[in-house]
Amino acid sequence: MEAWRKMAEKPIGAALPNGKRFYRCECIDQKRPANEITGLEFLWPGPKPEGGQFFMVRAERSGVFLGRPLSAASFKPGPEGGPGVLGFLVLDKGQGTHELCSLRPGETAEISGPLGNSWAAAAAGIPEGVAAFISGGVGVAPLALYASEPGKRPFDFYAGFKSKPYGVEGVKSRSLIIAAEDGEGGLKGRIPDFFSPVGYSVVFSCGPEAMLKTVAAVCEEAGVPCFVSLERRMACGAGACLGCTVKTWDANNARQNSRCCADGPIFAANTVIFDEVFGE
Ligand code: FES
Repeated sequence: MEAWRKMAEKPIGAALPNGKRFYRCECIDQKRPANEITGLEFLWPGPKPEGGQFFMVRAERSGVFLGRPLSAASFKPGPEGGPGVLGFLVLDKGQGTHELCSLRPGETAEISGPLGNSWAAAAAGIPEGVAAFISGGVGVAPLALYASEPGKRPFDFYAGFKSKPYGVEGVKSRSLIIAAEDGEGGLKGRIPDFFSPVGYSVVFSCGPEAMLKTVAAVCEEAGVPCFVSLERRMACGAGACLGCTVKTWDANNARQNSRCCADGPIFAANTVIFDEVFGE
């Protein structure tokens, strides 16, 4: 609890349009599980995230104005009345994420959330049966958190990486299939090469655009419901600025703009107009 005392217990700044607040959170662990990937843990005083939800995160000493959206990768509840421990996997791909990857234990970040929908909420109403989780790279994070939640349908986990695997250490799935482009730690190749949706009741996927398009297409062909988590640049993270829109089909098959942060980040794959979201 000593570290908790060092942390500001009160929210900082004004409330976001969705009523969420930022908290100044102490980093308590930093690891480098793979090249360009940093695992961070923070003391977090807010609510527990559900698998698939994300947070806006910004290093406290930062040269960037806006937080970066990061999916929660893990959560451990704290002692009664104390903070939980919130984990992220961060891909170093720009100044904001580089600053986060450079954080050391004892340093702080400003964090708001949890935001967006969850895998469980997005797939409500899908009949029981075995699920397939398909991740690519750092897309393993929101699926690993969902995998840790009790009481859900059985699932197989397919995780693809460029090289050394990470983020799947605690996953207890019916089967765990790991592939890497260089073959390290698993099968050699890309994860869609080892996956068929046949026999699954539902598929959940998060990862690179090309992988999501492939997974969505094979699920469509097999008639298996598929849900994808999309990634967009975000400003407010709260549904107000419309800076994160994605093109989707509405219930009448008309094009619409959906907000990745507030209507997603998880969408039914058959509502996403992939070529307009990602380009042809
Ligand atoms: S980031 Fe502002 S509406 Fe989504």
